[in-house]
Amino acid sequence: VNKQRIDELLDEEVDDHYMLNQWYVVERFSQMQENVPIEKYVLGKSIVIWRIGDKVHARRNHCPHEGARFTSANPRVQGKIDGATIQCGYHGWIYNEEGKATKYPSNQNTKARSHWCIDVYQTQVLYDWVWVTLSSSPMDIPLFRQWGDPTYRFVAAGPYPTDTSFGRSILNAGDVSHFAFVHDKTLGDVDHPEVPFYTVSRDFSAGIIAKDVHVWQPDPDGSGIGKDVCYTFYIPRPHIQTFDKCEQESCFCIYLVVTPNTETTCTWWMWMTFNYEIEKSDVEIERFQDEVSQDDRDLLGGIRPAKLPLDPKDGYTLIPADETALNYRKWLLQLGVTYGVIQPRKKSGQ
Ligand code: FES
Ligand SMILES: [Fe+2]
Repeated sequence: VNKQRIDELLDEEVDDHYMLNQWYVVERFSQMQENVPIEKYVLGKSIVIWRIGDKVHARRNHCPHEGARFTSANPRVQGKIDGATIQCGYHGWIYNEEGKATKYPSNQNTKARSHWCIDVYQTQVLYDWVWVTLSSSPMDIPLFRQWGDPTYRFVAAGPYPTDTSFGRSILNAGDVSHFAFVHDKTLGDVDHPEVPFYTVSRDFSAGIIAKDVHVWQPDPDGSGIGKDVCYTFYIPRPHIQTFDKCEQESCFCIYLVVTPNTETTCTWWMWMTFNYEIEKSDVEIERFQDEVSQDDRDLLGGIRPAKLPLDPKDGYTLIPADETALNYRKWLLQLGVTYGVIQPRKKSGQ
């Protein structure tokens, strides 16, 4: 496959309706500068986003005139923003709020044709994230229960770009059996690798819930004392996972969104929140998460195949500790997800 073909593949039409109908995080809203077009990849598509006041615009990052991108690190080449309109940096065509071309400076009197337009994508700002969807009738965004609760402290982490599929990433985040090895002395302990049986429920619309997932942690609450902890994992969408680690009234929770940039690359966006005292600054907590995530990303980048196989014949073997991984795969099959996964081969024969 040559370079040119790879570029074409990046913009290939996706026919996975379930994943097309989702919302994806592409940026932290509070960290966006105004009026600067930036490039994001969602489901293999290059998208240009920019912020005006409290609104974020999103368009396909491809000018239909001669194929230029609206984004560039070179300010002479980069497209220009004026409110909801964007001007291509190559020959100056201007696209209005509906994505229709309204100006072609080199032939001002040319009559516009209907296909001279760019796709406009819906956006919303929620949980201080900018979410984009490629669909005109997307599913909703799962609730972040603790958001806005004054008894909780919130620390953001990421973005963490990762060289694997979103499915591999979601399974990694919900898998405590790797703590003892990948995260020895941080999240786990190599002398306590056992994961007792736990229960997983799977529902077509509610997704996956794994309850009473126990694991040993060397320092679960900052007291320096190792003990057994209990997690609950919720996977309400194939690319979104929240989990709680609670002991009586004290809870530590994470809301994780894994945005598929392509089938085999993704970006993790994370909020951590907790309602008890942790004597570390936000930056220290974030650095700890950077370290833990770095280990996961290094590990995941080496996994073959990078797409998540849904059939054991394509290379995986599960044991009881992998109950979540088994149910997640069954759920993706039920949903008809094809993006970033390896679908079971059709049986040949009569
Ligand atoms: S390529 Fe965009 S105006 Fe020519
Ligand atoms: Fe991990």
